[in-house]
Amino acid sequence: MDLIVEHEGKPYPVAFRSLVQIKDALPTSRAVVTDENLARLYPGFLEGERVVTVAPGEASKGLATYERVVRELAQSGADRKTAIVGFGGGVVGDLAGFVAATYLRGVPFVQIPTTLLAQVDSSVGAKVGIDLPEGKNLLGSFWPPIAVYADLGTLRTLPAREFRNGLAEVWKYAYIMDAPLASALEGLTQPGDPRLEGVVRRCVELKAEVVGEDPFERSGRRAILNFGHTIGHAIEAVTGYGAVLHGEAIAIGMVLEARLGERLGITPPETTALVRRTLGEVGLPTALREGSDPDALLGVMRRDKKATQGRLAFSLVETLGTCKLYHDVPEDAVLGVLQAG
Ligand SMILES: NC(=O)c1ccc[n+]([C@@H]2O[C@H](COP(=O)([O-])OP(=O)(O)OC[C@H]3O[C@@H](n4cnc5c(N)ncnc54)[C@H](O)[C@@H]3O)[C@@H](O)[C@H]2O)c1
Repeated sequence: MDLIVEHEGKPYPVAFRSLVQIKDALPTSRAVVTDENLARLYPGFLEGERVVTVAPGEASKGLATYERVVRELAQSGADRKTAIVGFGGGVVGDLAGFVAATYLRGVPFVQIPTTLLAQVDSSVGAKVGIDLPEGKNLLGSFWPPIAVYADLGTLRTLPAREFRNGLAEVWKYAYIMDAPLASALEGLTQPGDPRLEGVVRRCVELKAEVVGEDPFERSGRRAILNFGHTIGHAIEAVTGYGAVLHGEAIAIGMVLEARLGERLGITPPETTALVRRTLGEVGLPTALREGSDPDALLGVMRRDKKATQGRLAFSLVETLGTCKLYHDVPEDAVLGVLQAG
């Protein structure tokens, strides 16, 4: 059964299909945006398509690539009825979505997420955008797709590190919203695991529930999804985007934010221990690298979009499977956790 995500009266389905079925379901007039890795791995899917291919990696989520893609679309005569189909990971999805949101003031958008992270997170929730040299995701929009189609089979070609990267977000849903999911996930480390489809569906359901309640990230509800992200984003910013993958950074962030919750009397110590153990078993990093600078990390956090007037906000786990956004977290508690590593 397809899952339905609500977006302000514009619901869209998230459907699990094979690539062959997906090709049949796509709008007739379309242009596919993908990256070179996908183009090499899935030539059959792209055969006969109008395709714009970008280089793999975060650098493609920038102004230069955006300009090339929209100009290629214009030169190929794409019109208001041409759906933009993002076939790839979160980079392609965010870029293609931003192209769809802006080309001719908005054209239909279809997502075909091919990484675990994109299937459980970035393809759901309508956030699209690109980076500026001044910072990540600074140019963007909310632009719901008309449909999300995912083929779990595509995860089998993902490099192991990218699969683990997505598992960090999967575990996040268990910690903040769904204790039974944590039990279901124990020992899941491979894309061939038969439990994966149920797990991915459950994560989409959980994300759909949150974004349906707070589609434009205004009420604070959606901000609970940021568990591990306040510290994680700071790690990504300080290390220069790319060196540490997003999932790796938030894995460290989740362990440290669980410790922070524990310091503040919010997170039970056994939950912190579970977060650390389960992420470690997946093969994700669970501590800051040697030589990390706590003051530099704190400096980035002060600029976090959840911080208001210099006060830090964190989504903290209360008991396994529940969490809440806490404003006004004291800086010395955060610094203490960062210094302890
Ligand atoms: N819009 C949102 O709500 C949201 C949420 C989370 C993250 N994001 C964004 O997502 C991006 C990260 O996404 P990502 O982790 O998917 O990275 P990515 O898109 O860079 O993909 C990771 C790598 O895997 C390769 N790849 C993709 N699918 C493959 C497959 N099936 N087989 C083999 N290789 C494959 C890609 O070519 C790339 O090299 C970031 O830019 C982040 O800001 C957006």
